[in-house]
Amino acid sequence: TYLNYGLILFIMKFILLTVAALLLVVGEGTADRILSRRSKRELASPLHVGGIRDPYGSYCQRRGGCCPGRDDTCTVPYLDTICYCDLFCNRTVSDCCPDFWNHCLGIEPPSLIDTCERNGNRFFTGQTYKENCNLCTCGTSGRWECEQNACLMEPDVIHAVNRGNYGWKAANYSQLYGMTLDEGIRYRLGTQRPSRTIMNMNEIQVQKFRDFVFATISYKWPGKIHEPLDQGNCAASWAFSTAAVASDRISIQSMGHMTPQLSPQNLISCDTRNQGGCAGGRIDGAWWYLRRRGVVTEDCYPYLPPHQSPAEVSRCMMQSRSVGRGKRQATQRCPNAHNHHNDIYQSTPPYRLSSNDKEIMKEIMDNGPVQAIMEVHEDFFVYKSGIYKHTDVSFTKPSQYRKHGTHSVRITGWGEERNFDGTSRKYWIAANSWGKNWGEDGYFRIARGDNECEIETFVIGVWVLMLLDPLSQYN
Ligand SMILES: *[C@@H]1O[C@H](CO)[C@@H](O)[C@H](O)[C@H]1NC(C)=O
Ligand SMILES: *[C@@H]1O[C@H](CO)[C@@H](O)[C@H](O)[C@H]1NC(C)=O
Repeated sequence: TYLNYGLILFIMKFILLTVAALLLVVGEGTADRILSRRSKRELASPLHVGGIRDPYGSYCQRRGGCCPGRDDTCTVPYLDTICYCDLFCNRTVSDCCPDFWNHCLGIEPPSLIDTCERNGNRFFTGQTYKENCNLCTCGTSGRWECEQNACLMEPDVIHAVNRGNYGWKAANYSQLYGMTLDEGIRYRLGTQRPSRTIMNMNEIQVQKFRDFVFATISYKWPGKIHEPLDQGNCAASWAFSTAAVASDRISIQSMGHMTPQLSPQNLISCDTRNQGGCAGGRIDGAWWYLRRRGVVTEDCYPYLPPHQSPAEVSRCMMQSRSVGRGKRQATQRCPNAHNHHNDIYQSTPPYRLSSNDKEIMKEIMDNGPVQAIMEVHEDFFVYKSGIYKHTDVSFTKPSQYRKHGTHSVRITGWGEERNFDGTSRKYWIAANSWGKNWGEDGYFRIARGDNECEIETFVIGVWVLMLLDPLSQYN
């Protein structure tokens, strides 16, 4: 019987404990409140850091008082439900009106503004930081909301190119970092596709010649090839490539008696008829201006890289007048007050070469660098060295990551690189206008012979010697 008594006692204790525990659970939680008001929503308290932010307002204060202890009728309408101003809130938190803490208990809530975290620092709603080309804003939910632009310097494009076997290497350029791909295409290129009439220009016939495996014009004409300039965020490659090719050809065709570096700014600011300045332009228009009006040197009319985007084009500060026989003379002093050589340089009409690489090579060998139009794709901006070919590293990405625009460059030579398997890769050497710390000292090599990026589609040469004055001096 002792045993039975003990067992009954044990069972009774167990039942009592269970009932007590159940009571506690019901009392402790909000189960009964939730059951009695099904519309009740879980509301995060302002004291919940990182929860939803409660709207400011006087709820308990408006109600007229806070109830001591638990009082299920001590409520105020709140959004689409109700909230409580009784002291039960102290324990459950989620039922409380936004002003429960400061009004009923006199406790200042920490901060009603949600904050976002970054590198261990806290930021308030509305604060921003820039991640490459995308602006991130601290949102009201305490989370960073970032723009989703394709950037000009995409780390995964750089990695994919360098990991792959594409024949060229990529780099991250600080001067291009932080720009979107769209901005790169809008501000760093700037040559319009020639019109249909221009594209139908007859190609001149060039005789075939003995094919040199490697030639760079700077070896053949040392000191006569001008260094690549930097167009900055001004989409005026139309002016840069034209001025560069004309400069080299004047130096070469005058046998080095004149080595002017012609002024792209002169073209950008003064050749404004049907031209867009820093918003793009046409090379046929640039050659027309060089022939009919002429330009001064870079030193006389220096380049003014734009500080804002889109770039504003400064007014024209150089004019010329005819002095007979098609020649012209400047009527203004150099914009650069330290330079007094305001000679005007002119060209003849340009001529179009065939797209055959041998004919282009012969033209370069005989007469100097040529101008070429090319399509620049997203991966070209990260080119560092090697023989460029447009890669497939962005092919699987959304279309905003795969863009291209028309550019113009100066081809100054060519070469051929032997592979281990005995095959070889032919290339052009070309000067870009993105400064000397882009690519191979401002130059790049690009596959030759298969119209890579359409670089062999529209190639231009020009003859300048007949306008140099006086001619006999150089013979
Ligand atoms: C909640 O109530 C208890 C007593 O019921 C009190 O000791 C405690 O300070 C209260 N907490 C807050 C945050 O007011
Ligand atoms: C690229 O360069 C920028 C600026 O110079 C730098 O902030 C960034 O971390 C670099 N990115 C990579 C992937 O190296």
